[in-house]
Amino acid sequence: MKSFIPWIGGKNLLAKKIIPMFPDSFQRYIEVFGGGASILFHRERHAKTEVYNDLNDGLVNLFRCAKFHRTELQKEISGYFNSRTLFNEIRQKMELSGLTDIQRAGMFFVVARLSFGANMRTFGGQPRNLSADCLELVEKRLENVVIENLDFAELIRKYDSAESLFYCDPPYNSTERYYNKRFTSADHERLRAILSQIQGRFILSYNDCDEVRELYRDFKIVPVQRQNNLSEGFYKELIIKNF
Ligand SMILES: C[S@@+](CC[C@H](N)C(=O)[O-])C[C@H]1O[C@@H](n2cnc3c(N)ncnc32)[C@H](O)[C@@H]1O
Repeated sequence: MKSFIPWIGGKNLLAKKIIPMFPDSFQRYIEVFGGGASILFHRERHAKTEVYNDLNDGLVNLFRCAKFHRTELQKEISGYFNSRTLFNEIRQKMELSGLTDIQRAGMFFVVARLSFGANMRTFGGQPRNLSADCLELVEKRLENVVIENLDFAELIRKYDSAESLFYCDPPYNSTERYYNKRFTSADHERLRAILSQIQGRFILSYNDCDEVRELYRDFKIVPVQRQNNLSEGFYKELIIKNF
């Protein structure tokens, strides 16, 4: 199935290239920079233990509500429709304190679906589907998935083992500003440092640039192309592995 939420840097179009590179067997699958979790949703199950993680609190709250409060969330979303005025009002209201988790999750879902390219800031002005019917399948898919809200370094330390496969899709070089938690060049280096020490295996996706090729020169680097989500043309990407 596809992810239920559009997300900047979402990997739906790369899933068919990334998943065949997974090892034949592993017990733990950990999506370190979860976002919309395109790779997780692409298969019914990747491993016995599965973990979704993201540092964005609003996004993680949406995943938790989809997993634990699905019917209430559907009810909440059913009160919204596609309108610029409503979109702008929800964006302001989302900043208020005193909302329930379900109200916040509903607003997050609507803003992600109605914003331009899922940027969460500007109204897309497109005929978007706001139906929350898909949440039934999402609830089922997340049934055995552990949902975490940690910085990547803490998460990787917690779940590392010889049986772990980490899929890492960090904010790309020079797109870091699109996410609500800024990812710095020190973070890119911190990620390389921790991935260099793990017992488990990792698959990492990045934009193809000299900085990334240099940072990961000691690992296997596979160049791939994917269609641009927002326009015609292709993006050059890298898939990097330690096995
Ligand atoms: C490129 S997106 C992931 C997209 C995802 N693979 C998908 O298919 O939708 C990167 C994600 O990393 C998250 N992030 C940023 N800094 C982080 C950190 N220090 N630890 C964990 N997640 C972080 C962002 O909130 C964002 O959702």
